[in-house]
Amino acid sequence: MCAEKSYATTVRRVLITGASGAVGSVAQKSLDRLGEIFPFDINELDVTDSKSTQHVFQNIKPTTVLHLAAITDLNLCETNKELATQVNFYGTKNVVDSCVKSGADLIFMSSEAVFNGSKREGYSEQAACRPQNYYGQTKLESEIYIKKNLKKYYITRASWLYGSSVSQKLLEKLLPKLLRDEPVSVVDDKFGNPTLIKDLVETLGNIIEGKHGYGTYHIVNSGSCSRFEFILTAAKCIGRSYLVTPTSSDTFLSNVNRGRYALLKNTKINPLRNWKIALAEYMEEVTN
Ligand SMILES: NC(=O)c1ccc[n+]([C@@H]2O[C@H](COP(=O)([O-])OP(=O)(O)OC[C@H]3O[C@@H](n4cnc5c(N)ncnc54)[C@H](OP(=O)(O)O)[C@@H]3O)[C@@H](O)[C@H]2O)c1
Repeated sequence: MCAEKSYATTVRRVLITGASGAVGSVAQKSLDRLGEIFPFDINELDVTDSKSTQHVFQNIKPTTVLHLAAITDLNLCETNKELATQVNFYGTKNVVDSCVKSGADLIFMSSEAVFNGSKREGYSEQAACRPQNYYGQTKLESEIYIKKNLKKYYITRASWLYGSSVSQKLLEKLLPKLLRDEPVSVVDDKFGNPTLIKDLVETLGNIIEGKHGYGTYHIVNSGSCSRFEFILTAAKCIGRSYLVTPTSSDTFLSNVNRGRYALLKNTKINPLRNWKIALAEYMEEVTN
C-alpha cells in the first residue's frame, strides 16, 4: 500500500495550455515519455477565465504546467491591445495564481521580443529587457509577475520557431510557394536564431525532468542568420535557391516595431545543434 501511495505522488502530471498551437501540438506528442500529459486547447481551457483555470488545476492536480497559451500574432497584439493584455498577461496571471495554490512548477514560454533587438551580439539570459512592441511588453510583464509570485518557475525564451504542421510562421508560409516554383522575396536586414520546435520541446522535456534548476533559459538552435539566409538555406535543401531574392524590411509596411537582432545567447545549458543541421533534417522530413 505504501509503495502504491509513493508511486502516485511521484508520477509527473504535465498540464499544457494552448496545446493545439505550434509548440503545443509537438509537445503533447513527444513528452508523454515523461509521465501523464494533459493537453488543453482554448476550447477546453480559456486561460482568461480564472475560475475555469482553477477548476482545471483542482481536477488535474498537475506537477508541472507548460504554459503556451498566448496571442502570438504581433500585428494583432498592436491592433487589439486589450485582447493581448487579457490573454498574454492576465491569462498568465491566472495560471501563475493556480500554480501558487497547487504547488505546481511553471514553465512559461517567453520570447526574444522582451529585448529591444539593437545589439548585434545578441542577449544573454541576464540582459536588461526593453520591449519594442506590445507582444514583447505583455511577455515582459508576465515574466515580472512570475518572478514576484512564484519560486518554482522556468522562464524559457525562444526565437524564430518553425517546424510544426499547425504553424503559420515564415518558413511554413513560404514553403508551399517554393514547392509551387514561385519566387519569394525575404528581408536580409533582420537576424535571429531559427529554432526547430522539436529541438525546443526536447529541451523543455529535460527541464520537466528536473535536469536544470529553476530560472530563466534561452532555448535556441546554435548559430544565427538573416531571414533571407534562413529561407535561402531551406530552398537549397529542395534545389530551389534560384527562387529566393533578398529585400529590405523598408519595403514592408508594418505596425509592429521590431529590433534588427532577435538574437538570444544561451549561456546556461548545453548548446543545441546548429540551425542548419536542424533545418536540413526538417526539410528532408517535410518534403519526402
Ligand atoms: N512561435 C515563435 O516563434 C515563438 C517564439 C518565442 C516564444 N513563443 C511563445 O511560445 C508559446 C507557444 O507559441 P506557438 O508558436 O505555439 O503559438 P501558437 O501556435 O499561436 O499557439 C498559441 C495557442 O494559444 C491558444 N490561445 C489563444 N488564446 C487563448 C486563451 N485565452 N486560452 C487558451 N489558449 C489560448 C491559441 O489558440 P487559437 O489559435 O485558437 O488562438 C493557440 O492554440 C507562446 O507563448 C509564444 O508566445 C513563440
